[in-house]
Amino acid sequence: MNRILIEGGIPLRGEIPVSGAKNAVLPLMAATLLADGICVIDDVPALADVNTMCQVLASLGTKCNLSDSTLSIDTSGVYSIEAPGELVRKMRASFLIMGPLLAKHGSARMSLPGGCAIGARPIDLHLKGFESMGAEISIGHGYIEARASKLIGNRVYLDFPSVGATENIMMAASLAEGNTVIENAAEEPEIVDLSNLLSAMGAKIKGAGTSIIRIEGVEQLKAARHTVIPDRIEAGSFMVMAAATGGDVLITNVISEHLKAVIAKLEDCGAQVIEELDGLRVVGNPQIEPADIKTMPYPGFATDMQAQFTAYLSCCRGTSVVTETIFENRFMHIEELNKMGADIRVEGNSAIINGVSHLKGTSVVATDLRAGAAMIIAGLMSKGQTEITEIQHILRGYENICEKLSACGAKIKFAQ
Ligand code: UD1
Repeated sequence: MNRILIEGGIPLRGEIPVSGAKNAVLPLMAATLLADGICVIDDVPALADVNTMCQVLASLGTKCNLSDSTLSIDTSGVYSIEAPGELVRKMRASFLIMGPLLAKHGSARMSLPGGCAIGARPIDLHLKGFESMGAEISIGHGYIEARASKLIGNRVYLDFPSVGATENIMMAASLAEGNTVIENAAEEPEIVDLSNLLSAMGAKIKGAGTSIIRIEGVEQLKAARHTVIPDRIEAGSFMVMAAATGGDVLITNVISEHLKAVIAKLEDCGAQVIEELDGLRVVGNPQIEPADIKTMPYPGFATDMQAQFTAYLSCCRGTSVVTETIFENRFMHIEELNKMGADIRVEGNSAIINGVSHLKGTSVVATDLRAGAAMIIAGLMSKGQTEITEIQHILRGYENICEKLSACGAKIKFAQ
Protein backbone atom coordinates (compact mmCIF):
# COMPACT_ATOMS: atom_id res chain seq x y z
CA MET A 1 0.00 0.00 0.00
CA ASN A 2 1.69 3.16 -1.08
CA ARG A 3 -1.17 5.31 -2.36
CA ILE A 4 -4.55 6.51 -1.15
CA LEU A 5 -7.33 7.00 -3.72
CA ILE A 6 -10.32 9.23 -2.99
CA GLU A 7 -13.51 9.90 -4.97
CA GLY A 8 -14.50 13.30 -3.64
CA GLY A 9 -17.73 15.19 -3.20
CA ILE A 10 -19.49 12.96 -0.66
CA PRO A 11 -20.62 14.56 2.62
CA LEU A 12 -19.37 12.49 5.58
CA ARG A 13 -22.15 11.17 7.81
CA GLY A 14 -21.79 8.97 10.87
CA GLU A 15 -19.50 8.55 13.82
CA ILE A 16 -15.72 8.52 14.08
CA PRO A 17 -13.89 7.30 17.19
CA VAL A 18 -10.62 9.08 17.94
CA SER A 19 -7.56 7.03 18.90
CA GLY A 20 -5.05 7.67 21.67
CA ALA A 21 -2.77 10.63 21.01
CA LYS A 22 0.41 9.94 19.06
CA ASN A 23 2.15 12.96 20.52
CA ALA A 24 1.25 11.87 24.04
CA VAL A 25 2.16 8.21 23.72
CA LEU A 26 5.68 8.75 22.35
CA PRO A 27 6.91 10.69 25.42
CA LEU A 28 5.01 8.27 27.70
CA MET A 29 6.92 5.39 26.13
CA ALA A 30 10.21 7.23 26.66
CA ALA A 31 9.25 7.90 30.29
CA THR A 32 8.96 4.19 31.04
CA LEU A 33 12.78 4.08 30.86
CA LEU A 34 12.78 5.91 34.19
CA ALA A 35 10.95 3.09 35.98
CA ASP A 36 11.98 -0.29 37.25
CA GLY A 37 9.63 -3.01 36.05
CA ILE A 38 6.76 -3.32 33.61
CA CYS A 39 4.76 -0.21 32.66
CA VAL A 40 1.43 -0.61 30.90
CA ILE A 41 -0.07 2.03 28.61
CA ASP A 42 -3.67 1.72 27.42
CA ASP A 43 -5.37 3.19 24.32
CA VAL A 44 -2.15 3.11 22.33
CA PRO A 45 -2.75 3.68 18.61
CA ALA A 46 -1.23 1.22 16.11
CA LEU A 47 0.88 3.75 14.23
CA ALA A 48 4.21 3.64 12.41
CA ASP A 49 5.67 6.13 14.93
CA VAL A 50 4.65 3.93 17.88
CA ASN A 51 6.30 1.00 16.14
CA THR A 52 9.47 3.05 15.61
CA MET A 53 9.53 4.04 19.30
CA CYS A 54 9.09 0.35 20.24
CA GLN A 55 12.12 -0.43 18.08
CA VAL A 56 14.11 2.38 19.72
CA LEU A 57 13.25 1.08 23.20
CA ALA A 58 13.89 -2.54 22.19
CA SER A 59 17.34 -1.56 20.89
CA LEU A 60 18.18 -0.46 24.45
CA GLY A 61 17.15 -3.81 25.91
CA THR A 62 13.51 -3.22 26.87
CA LYS A 63 10.74 -5.64 25.93
CA CYS A 64 7.72 -3.97 24.25
CA ASN A 65 4.48 -5.78 23.55
CA LEU A 66 1.51 -4.08 21.87
CA SER A 67 -1.69 -6.08 21.89
CA ASP A 68 -5.24 -4.70 21.36
CA SER A 69 -4.05 -1.14 22.00
CA THR A 70 -2.42 -2.07 25.33
CA LEU A 71 1.32 -1.63 25.34
CA SER A 72 3.51 -3.15 28.01
CA ILE A 73 7.13 -2.13 28.33
CA ASP A 74 9.52 -4.06 30.53
CA THR A 75 12.53 -1.86 31.25
CA SER A 76 14.31 -4.27 33.57
CA GLY A 77 16.76 -5.46 30.90
CA VAL A 78 18.14 -2.14 29.64
CA TYR A 79 21.77 -2.74 28.64
CA SER A 80 22.44 0.05 26.14
CA ILE A 81 22.36 3.85 26.29
CA GLU A 82 22.68 4.31 22.53
CA ALA A 83 19.78 4.30 20.06
CA PRO A 84 20.54 3.23 16.47
CA GLY A 85 21.03 6.18 14.14
CA GLU A 86 18.60 5.01 11.47
CA LEU A 87 15.71 4.99 13.98
CA VAL A 88 16.57 8.35 15.51
CA ARG A 89 16.88 9.96 12.10
CA LYS A 90 13.53 8.49 11.09
CA MET A 91 11.62 9.97 14.01
CA ARG A 92 12.52 13.12 15.91
CA ALA A 93 10.54 12.06 18.99
CA SER A 94 13.11 9.32 19.61
CA PHE A 95 15.26 12.10 21.07
CA LEU A 96 12.88 11.98 24.06
CA ILE A 97 14.79 8.97 25.40
CA MET A 98 17.79 11.23 26.07
CA GLY A 99 16.46 12.74 29.34
CA PRO A 100 15.34 9.42 30.86
CA LEU A 101 18.57 7.59 29.89
CA LEU A 102 20.73 10.40 31.23
CA ALA A 103 18.83 10.59 34.53
CA LYS A 104 18.56 6.83 35.09
CA HIS A 105 21.77 5.48 33.56
CA GLY A 106 24.11 8.49 33.71
CA SER A 107 24.71 8.79 29.98
CA ALA A 108 23.03 8.70 26.59
CA ARG A 109 24.31 8.75 23.03
CA MET A 110 22.43 9.17 19.78
CA SER A 111 22.63 10.66 16.33
CA LEU A 112 21.00 14.00 15.59
CA PRO A 113 17.22 13.47 15.31
CA GLY A 114 15.02 13.46 12.20
CA GLY A 115 11.25 13.71 11.75
CA CYS A 116 8.98 15.60 9.38
CA ALA A 117 10.82 17.94 7.01
CA ILE A 118 9.11 21.05 8.35
CA GLY A 119 12.01 23.21 9.38
CA ALA A 120 15.36 23.24 11.12
CA ARG A 121 13.93 21.87 14.40
CA PRO A 122 17.02 22.28 16.60
CA ILE A 123 17.45 20.59 19.99
CA ASP A 124 19.38 23.37 21.72
CA LEU A 125 16.69 23.87 24.38
CA HIS A 126 16.74 20.19 25.38
CA LEU A 127 20.52 20.37 25.71
CA LYS A 128 20.40 23.66 27.61
CA GLY A 129 18.15 21.97 30.17
CA PHE A 130 20.44 18.95 30.58
CA GLU A 131 23.51 21.18 30.85
CA SER A 132 21.96 23.37 33.50
CA MET A 133 21.35 20.20 35.52
CA GLY A 134 25.06 19.45 35.31
CA ALA A 135 25.29 17.19 32.25
CA GLU A 136 28.29 17.37 29.98
CA ILE A 137 27.28 17.44 26.35
CA SER A 138 29.53 16.64 23.43
CA ILE A 139 28.52 16.85 19.79
CA GLY A 140 30.57 15.54 16.90
CA HIS A 141 30.31 13.46 13.71
CA GLY A 142 26.51 13.74 13.75
CA TYR A 143 26.28 12.31 17.28
CA ILE A 144 25.30 13.80 20.62
CA GLU A 145 26.52 12.40 23.88
CA ALA A 146 25.38 13.48 27.34
CA ARG A 147 26.93 12.41 30.63
CA ALA A 148 26.23 13.14 34.29
CA SER A 149 26.98 10.89 37.23
CA LYS A 150 24.05 12.61 38.98
CA LEU A 151 21.79 15.34 37.56
CA ILE A 152 21.26 18.25 39.94
CA GLY A 153 17.96 20.14 39.81
CA ASN A 154 18.12 23.74 38.63
CA ARG A 155 16.09 26.62 37.17
CA VAL A 156 15.68 26.23 33.39
CA TYR A 157 14.22 29.06 31.32
CA LEU A 158 13.14 28.00 27.84
CA ASP A 159 13.52 30.76 25.24
CA PHE A 160 10.57 29.17 23.43
CA PRO A 161 7.96 26.88 25.04
CA SER A 162 9.19 23.79 23.19
CA VAL A 163 7.02 20.73 23.75
CA GLY A 164 9.84 18.23 23.37
CA ALA A 165 12.30 20.19 25.51
CA THR A 166 9.73 20.59 28.30
CA GLU A 167 9.07 16.83 28.21
CA ASN A 168 12.72 15.81 28.09
CA ILE A 169 13.70 18.14 30.95
CA MET A 170 10.66 17.16 33.03
CA MET A 171 11.60 13.47 32.72
CA ALA A 172 15.27 14.07 33.52
CA ALA A 173 14.39 16.30 36.49
CA SER A 174 12.12 13.63 37.98
CA LEU A 175 15.20 11.58 38.93
CA ALA A 176 17.56 14.52 39.55
CA GLU A 177 18.82 15.52 42.97
CA GLY A 178 16.86 18.51 44.34
CA ASN A 179 14.35 20.81 42.70
CA THR A 180 13.98 21.89 39.08
CA VAL A 181 11.84 24.75 37.83
CA ILE A 182 11.04 24.93 34.11
CA GLU A 183 10.03 28.46 33.17
CA ASN A 184 8.25 29.33 29.93
CA ALA A 185 7.36 25.65 29.75
CA ALA A 186 5.06 24.33 27.02
CA GLU A 187 1.45 24.00 28.22
CA GLU A 188 0.19 21.39 25.75
CA PRO A 189 -2.19 18.65 27.02
CA GLU A 190 0.50 16.08 26.16
CA ILE A 191 2.71 17.64 28.86
CA VAL A 192 -0.07 17.12 31.41
CA ASP A 193 -0.50 13.52 30.26
CA LEU A 194 3.21 12.87 30.71
CA SER A 195 3.14 14.51 34.14
CA ASN A 196 0.24 12.24 35.11
CA LEU A 197 2.19 9.10 34.20
CA LEU A 198 5.33 10.37 35.94
CA SER A 199 3.29 11.17 39.06
CA ALA A 200 1.79 7.68 39.00
CA MET A 201 5.38 6.41 38.86
CA GLY A 202 6.16 8.39 42.03
CA ALA A 203 7.50 11.67 40.59
CA LYS A 204 6.72 14.95 42.35
CA ILE A 205 5.57 17.44 39.72
CA LYS A 206 3.48 20.59 40.12
CA GLY A 207 2.25 23.02 37.48
CA ALA A 208 2.20 20.82 34.36
CA GLY A 209 -0.14 22.55 31.91
CA THR A 210 1.04 26.00 33.03
CA SER A 211 4.14 27.92 32.03
CA ILE A 212 5.99 27.10 35.27
CA ILE A 213 6.58 23.47 36.16
CA ARG A 214 8.20 22.54 39.47
CA ILE A 215 9.76 19.13 39.89
CA GLU A 216 11.15 17.75 43.12
CA GLY A 217 13.56 14.97 42.20
CA VAL A 218 13.09 11.53 43.74
CA GLU A 219 15.56 8.66 44.03
CA GLN A 220 13.55 6.02 42.27
CA LEU A 221 10.46 5.67 40.08
CA LYS A 222 8.24 2.62 39.99
CA ALA A 223 6.32 1.05 37.10
CA ALA A 224 2.75 2.29 36.57
CA ARG A 225 -0.30 1.89 34.34
CA HIS A 226 -1.74 4.81 32.37
CA THR A 227 -4.32 5.53 29.65
CA VAL A 228 -3.30 7.89 26.84
CA ILE A 229 -5.41 11.02 26.23
CA PRO A 230 -7.41 11.17 22.97
CA ASP A 231 -5.56 12.59 19.98
CA ARG A 232 -6.68 16.20 19.64
CA ILE A 233 -5.00 16.58 16.24
CA GLU A 234 -6.64 13.46 14.84
CA ALA A 235 -9.97 14.71 16.26
CA GLY A 236 -9.42 18.16 14.76
CA SER A 237 -8.54 16.64 11.38
CA PHE A 238 -11.80 14.65 11.32
CA MET A 239 -13.75 17.73 12.42
CA VAL A 240 -12.37 19.65 9.46
CA MET A 241 -13.16 16.73 7.13
CA ALA A 242 -16.76 16.72 8.36
CA ALA A 243 -17.07 20.49 7.89
CA ALA A 244 -15.28 20.56 4.53
CA THR A 245 -17.61 17.97 2.99
CA GLY A 246 -20.76 19.65 4.35
CA GLY A 247 -21.27 16.52 6.43
CA ASP A 248 -22.67 15.66 9.85
CA VAL A 249 -20.30 13.61 12.00
CA LEU A 250 -20.14 12.76 15.69
CA ILE A 251 -16.50 12.61 16.77
CA THR A 252 -16.19 10.42 19.87
CA ASN A 253 -13.41 9.97 22.46
CA VAL A 254 -12.54 13.68 22.52
CA ILE A 255 -11.69 16.21 25.21
CA SER A 256 -13.34 19.37 23.90
CA GLU A 257 -11.23 21.62 26.14
CA HIS A 258 -8.21 20.54 24.02
CA LEU A 259 -10.00 21.59 20.84
CA LYS A 260 -11.11 25.11 21.75
CA ALA A 261 -9.07 26.87 19.05
CA VAL A 262 -10.19 24.39 16.36
CA ILE A 263 -13.83 24.72 17.43
CA ALA A 264 -13.63 28.54 17.38
CA LYS A 265 -12.15 28.58 13.86
CA LEU A 266 -14.64 26.04 12.50
CA GLU A 267 -17.46 28.20 13.85
CA ASP A 268 -15.88 31.31 12.28
CA CYS A 269 -15.98 29.40 8.98
CA GLY A 270 -19.71 28.75 9.41
CA ALA A 271 -19.64 25.13 10.59
CA GLN A 272 -21.62 24.11 13.67
CA VAL A 273 -19.89 22.30 16.50
CA ILE A 274 -22.29 20.81 19.03
CA GLU A 275 -21.16 19.36 22.34
CA GLU A 276 -23.05 16.08 22.86
CA LEU A 277 -22.88 13.51 25.63
CA ASP A 278 -20.71 11.16 23.55
CA GLY A 279 -18.52 13.71 21.83
CA LEU A 280 -18.52 16.61 19.41
CA ARG A 281 -20.92 16.76 16.47
CA VAL A 282 -19.71 18.78 13.50
CA VAL A 283 -22.21 19.92 10.90
CA GLY A 284 -20.76 21.52 7.80
CA ASN A 285 -22.12 24.60 6.13
CA PRO A 286 -22.30 24.54 2.29
CA GLN A 287 -20.58 27.94 2.21
CA ILE A 288 -17.17 28.20 3.90
CA GLU A 289 -16.65 31.67 5.35
CA PRO A 290 -13.11 33.08 5.28
CA ALA A 291 -11.03 33.12 8.48
CA ASP A 292 -7.59 34.30 9.48
CA ILE A 293 -5.45 31.88 11.46
CA LYS A 294 -2.14 32.24 13.26
CA THR A 295 -0.42 29.21 14.74
CA MET A 296 0.68 29.59 18.36
CA PRO A 297 1.82 27.43 21.27
CA TYR A 298 -1.08 25.86 23.20
CA PRO A 299 -3.74 27.03 24.02
CA GLY A 300 -3.36 28.91 20.73
CA PHE A 301 -4.13 27.41 17.34
CA ALA A 302 -1.91 24.31 16.83
CA THR A 303 0.64 24.27 14.02
CA ASP A 304 -0.36 20.62 13.59
CA MET A 305 -3.82 21.81 12.40
CA GLN A 306 -2.52 24.49 10.00
CA ALA A 307 -2.29 22.38 6.84
CA GLN A 308 -5.78 20.92 7.34
CA PHE A 309 -7.37 24.38 7.70
CA THR A 310 -5.42 25.68 4.71
CA ALA A 311 -6.98 22.90 2.62
CA TYR A 312 -10.45 23.66 4.02
CA LEU A 313 -10.14 27.41 3.48
CA SER A 314 -9.02 26.93 -0.13
CA CYS A 315 -12.75 26.91 -0.99
CA CYS A 316 -13.78 29.81 1.28
CA ARG A 317 -15.95 32.69 0.12
CA GLY A 318 -13.31 35.45 -0.09
CA THR A 319 -9.76 35.68 1.21
CA SER A 320 -8.17 34.05 4.25
CA VAL A 321 -4.69 34.50 5.68
CA VAL A 322 -2.96 31.63 7.49
CA THR A 323 0.22 32.56 9.35
CA GLU A 324 2.68 29.93 10.57
CA THR A 325 4.79 31.08 13.54
CA ILE A 326 6.08 27.76 14.94
CA PHE A 327 7.92 26.11 12.04
CA GLU A 328 9.62 27.97 9.21
CA ASN A 329 9.03 25.47 6.41
CA ARG A 330 5.51 24.24 6.89
CA PHE A 331 3.79 25.25 3.66
CA MET A 332 4.80 22.38 1.40
CA HIS A 333 1.14 21.33 1.06
CA ILE A 334 0.32 24.59 -0.71
CA GLU A 335 1.97 23.61 -3.98
CA GLU A 336 -0.04 20.39 -3.86
CA LEU A 337 -3.30 22.25 -3.10
CA ASN A 338 -2.62 24.61 -6.02
CA LYS A 339 -2.24 21.53 -8.29
CA MET A 340 -5.86 20.78 -7.33
CA GLY A 341 -7.03 24.23 -8.41
CA ALA A 342 -6.55 26.20 -5.17
CA ASP A 343 -5.36 29.79 -5.42
CA ILE A 344 -2.88 30.20 -2.56
CA ARG A 345 0.33 32.19 -2.50
CA VAL A 346 2.95 32.29 0.21
CA GLU A 347 4.27 35.63 1.43
CA GLY A 348 6.90 35.20 4.15
CA ASN A 349 5.34 33.03 6.83
CA SER A 350 1.77 33.67 5.65
CA ALA A 351 -0.39 31.88 3.11
CA ILE A 352 -2.84 34.14 1.30
CA ILE A 353 -5.80 32.03 0.25
CA ASN A 354 -8.15 33.33 -2.43
CA GLY A 355 -11.10 31.00 -2.14
CA VAL A 356 -12.08 29.03 -5.27
CA SER A 357 -15.48 27.47 -5.98
CA HIS A 358 -14.15 23.91 -5.96
CA LEU A 359 -11.02 21.75 -6.10
CA LYS A 360 -10.34 19.18 -8.81
CA GLY A 361 -8.96 15.75 -7.99
CA THR A 362 -5.47 14.99 -9.27
CA SER A 363 -2.27 13.27 -8.15
CA VAL A 364 -0.69 14.90 -5.10
CA VAL A 365 2.05 14.13 -2.61
CA ALA A 366 1.76 13.86 1.18
CA THR A 367 4.88 15.92 1.89
CA ASP A 368 4.65 15.40 5.66
CA LEU A 369 2.21 13.97 8.21
CA ARG A 370 -0.24 16.86 8.58
CA ALA A 371 0.19 17.87 4.92
CA GLY A 372 -1.01 14.33 4.21
CA ALA A 373 -4.15 14.96 6.26
CA ALA A 374 -4.64 18.18 4.28
CA MET A 375 -4.47 16.18 1.03
CA ILE A 376 -7.19 13.86 2.35
CA ILE A 377 -9.37 16.87 3.19
CA ALA A 378 -8.77 18.35 -0.27
CA GLY A 379 -9.51 14.97 -1.88
CA LEU A 380 -12.77 14.58 0.06
CA MET A 381 -13.85 18.10 -1.01
CA SER A 382 -12.84 17.73 -4.68
CA LYS A 383 -14.65 16.81 -7.80
CA GLY A 384 -13.25 13.61 -9.30
CA GLN A 385 -10.49 11.30 -8.15
CA THR A 386 -7.49 12.25 -6.01
CA GLU A 387 -4.42 10.09 -5.75
CA ILE A 388 -2.14 10.68 -2.74
CA THR A 389 1.38 9.28 -2.81
CA GLU A 390 4.09 9.14 -0.10
CA ILE A 391 1.39 7.98 2.32
CA GLN A 392 3.94 6.59 4.77
CA HIS A 393 3.80 10.07 6.31
CA ILE A 394 0.04 9.72 6.91
CA LEU A 395 0.46 6.29 8.48
CA ARG A 396 2.84 7.79 11.05
CA GLY A 397 -0.06 9.56 12.73
CA TYR A 398 -3.53 8.38 11.60
CA GLU A 399 -4.73 4.96 12.74
CA ASN A 400 -7.16 3.14 10.39
CA ILE A 401 -7.77 6.38 8.52
CA CYS A 402 -9.42 4.82 5.44
CA GLU A 403 -11.62 2.53 7.56
CA LYS A 404 -12.77 5.38 9.81
CA LEU A 405 -13.68 7.61 6.86
CA SER A 406 -15.27 4.79 4.81
CA ALA A 407 -17.59 4.10 7.75
CA CYS A 408 -18.93 7.64 7.22
CA GLY A 409 -19.57 7.11 3.52
CA ALA A 410 -16.28 8.38 2.09
CA LYS A 411 -14.95 6.67 -1.03
CA ILE A 412 -11.37 6.27 0.08
CA LYS A 413 -9.05 3.29 -0.18
CA PHE A 414 -5.44 2.21 -0.06
CA ALA A 415 -3.90 1.06 -3.34
CA GLN A 416 -0.58 -0.33 -4.50
C1 UD1 B 1 5.95 18.61 19.04
C2 UD1 B 1 5.00 17.70 18.30
C3 UD1 B 1 4.74 18.23 16.90
C4 UD1 B 1 4.25 19.66 16.97
C5 UD1 B 1 5.20 20.52 17.81
C6 UD1 B 1 4.67 21.93 18.05
C7 UD1 B 1 5.52 15.54 19.25
C8 UD1 B 1 6.07 14.16 19.05
N1 UD1 B 1 5.59 16.36 18.23
O1 UD1 B 1 7.17 18.59 18.32
O2 UD1 B 1 3.75 17.41 16.29
O3 UD1 B 1 4.19 20.19 15.67
O4 UD1 B 1 5.39 19.92 19.10
O5 UD1 B 1 3.43 21.88 18.63
O6 UD1 B 1 4.97 15.84 20.30
N2 UD1 B 1 12.86 24.52 19.04
C9 UD1 B 1 14.09 25.09 19.24
N3 UD1 B 1 14.99 24.44 20.03
C10 UD1 B 1 14.70 23.26 20.64
C11 UD1 B 1 13.43 22.69 20.45
C12 UD1 B 1 12.53 23.35 19.64
O7 UD1 B 1 14.39 26.15 18.70
O8 UD1 B 1 15.56 22.74 21.36
C13 UD1 B 1 11.89 25.20 18.17
C14 UD1 B 1 11.56 24.35 16.95
O9 UD1 B 1 12.50 24.54 15.93
C15 UD1 B 1 10.21 24.88 16.57
C16 UD1 B 1 9.58 25.22 17.92
O10 UD1 B 1 10.66 25.32 18.85
O11 UD1 B 1 10.33 26.05 15.79
C17 UD1 B 1 8.57 24.21 18.42
O12 UD1 B 1 9.19 22.97 18.54
P1 UD1 B 1 8.78 21.90 19.66
O13 UD1 B 1 7.67 22.47 20.47
O14 UD1 B 1 10.01 21.46 20.35
O15 UD1 B 1 8.24 20.73 18.78
P2 UD1 B 1 8.48 19.19 18.97
O16 UD1 B 1 8.50 18.84 20.42
O17 UD1 B 1 9.60 18.74 18.11
